[in-house]
Amino acid sequence: MEPAMQRKMLTIVMGLASLLIVHVNGETSLPFDHQKLTSDGHYLDQMQKMQAFKHSLLTRRQLATPPTISSSPAPAPQATNQPPGSRPSVYEVTTYGADPTGKLDSTEALLRAITDAFNGPSEGFLMKGIKNLGGAHINLQGGNYLISKPLRLPAAGAGNLKISGGTLTASDDFPTDGYLIDLSASSSSSSSYNYEYITMKDLMLDCNFRGGGISVINSLRTSIDNCYISHFSTEGILVQNGHETYIRNSFLGQHITAGGDPGERNFSGTAINLMGNDNAVTDVVIFSAAIGVMVSGQANTLSGVHCYNKARGFGGTGIYLKLPSLTQTRIVNCYLDYTGIVAEDPMQLTISSSFFLGDAFILLKSINGLAEGINIVDNMFAGSDTGIEIVQLDQSKGPFKKIDQVVVDRNNVKGMNLKATVARGSVKGNGTSWTVDFSPALLFPNLINHVQYSLSSGGATFPRHALRNVSGNRVVIESDIAVPASVFRHGGAGQRELTLACVFWGLQKSEL
Ligand SMILES: *[C@@H]1O[C@H](CO)[C@@H](O)[C@H](O)[C@H]1NC(C)=O
Ligand SMILES: *[C@@H]1O[C@H](CO)[C@@H](O)[C@H](O)[C@H]1NC(C)=O
Ligand SMILES: *[C@@H]1O[C@H](CO)[C@@H](O)[C@H](O)[C@H]1NC(C)=O
Repeated sequence: MEPAMQRKMLTIVMGLASLLIVHVNGETSLPFDHQKLTSDGHYLDQMQKMQAFKHSLLTRRQLATPPTISSSPAPAPQATNQPPGSRPSVYEVTTYGADPTGKLDSTEALLRAITDAFNGPSEGFLMKGIKNLGGAHINLQGGNYLISKPLRLPAAGAGNLKISGGTLTASDDFPTDGYLIDLSASSSSSSSYNYEYITMKDLMLDCNFRGGGISVINSLRTSIDNCYISHFSTEGILVQNGHETYIRNSFLGQHITAGGDPGERNFSGTAINLMGNDNAVTDVVIFSAAIGVMVSGQANTLSGVHCYNKARGFGGTGIYLKLPSLTQTRIVNCYLDYTGIVAEDPMQLTISSSFFLGDAFILLKSINGLAEGINIVDNMFAGSDTGIEIVQLDQSKGPFKKIDQVVVDRNNVKGMNLKATVARGSVKGNGTSWTVDFSPALLFPNLINHVQYSLSSGGATFPRHALRNVSGNRVVIESDIAVPASVFRHGGAGQRELTLACVFWGLQKSEL
């Protein structure tokens, strides 16, 4: 460190130390109008549903047969009468007649391989009613297979199966409402879930602008790992009901591009649509689609997701949280690249340690006016110096009315306007009234719940002083006698917790 810099640092440290001394003087606070969560019927209703759901899950877990560790691998009734192990559990699709060159339609061959895997040896059960296929593996052998129909798993009630290692391409007559791999159930089972522990790994799925890539319906513990899904017209991946679909280390884009695509304005579709609970999207790149990740289920985690699917300026959204009043979503360590996050009536939402590039911002959209339990902290924002605010409100459907436990703080910006729920201010003046206008800094208009300030005067008099007004995010402090002084005001102002310190650096400044 250069000596000049060291001196500067020292001065700052000393400055802070003197501030700490004066802060202990006069402190006033306004009561924080705490709105009880429980007063909201909708929220309670949602919570009860959630609890009932969790309870039923717990009950099912207790009822479920314990994981089979039995040494006698008795075949399940549905299995063939051959003892397990006497047939291969790797199903190589070319032996079923699938064409690895992608020229001939391989749909029926692939479906035969899948059906064989389902009818193959099984060892007991996973969840109740889900027979354990013992790690059966449908091996695409590095080929590219043309399919004209979804590869729909034949029957619900099976698990521990992997499909991997090749490319699937939709034909020109593939149904536009289909998915290349379809984990919906063509028949029901005794299990409350269709499938458990199905793994799709190392796959390239080319939807040929017809339909979607993978649909995971009412399934449990599904893995989608290292997949590249392109040319979807509807969705890259749809997750509906069920639990714990883990999508990781994958790449999704409607059009294959590395950004700056001349057709970007026309990108459509949704790369990942999470309509279920408890899923995780981890280390995923979404390079084109109108919406990167659409979330309408609870308790999902998005981590390490890089969205450059369609710029906000063209109408794209990186992550859309469309679950008003029960958001329960964590977005951490993501990269929103010219495309932002939209959250409708957010209730329990964390967005942290993420990077927003190209004027990307977070939009809180009021549906019923709720904004509760939100942490938008420790993010970086970079923009083009055109005054775009990092967090914005859409109150076109009505204002936010219930605002509680909202913390927008500790974000850093370059070329964008910082918005927060905690702000600090200082002002110079001479008289009986001092005003700091926090409206440029604070997110919600006309909302200051809590003010703290301290005041010190170095003169011979001891002025009485009070906080008088916070209307319009303007904090007014008055004293009974005029204090002729240069005023330095320091502290934080916040919508959850506001601290405003008025430090009067009086004429006897040197005495402090
Ligand atoms: C975008 O779509 C419009 C209307 O469908 C079409 O006219 C235009 O050529 C498309 N642009 C690109 C770059 O594909
Ligand atoms: C607070 O300030 C607002 C706006 O200047 C004003 O309309 C209001 O009357 C003030 N309230 C009090 C109690 O002085
Ligand atoms: C403060 O204001 C009073 C009255 O207007 C004036 O006489 C005095 O010089 C001012 N003091 C300072 C430090 O500006």
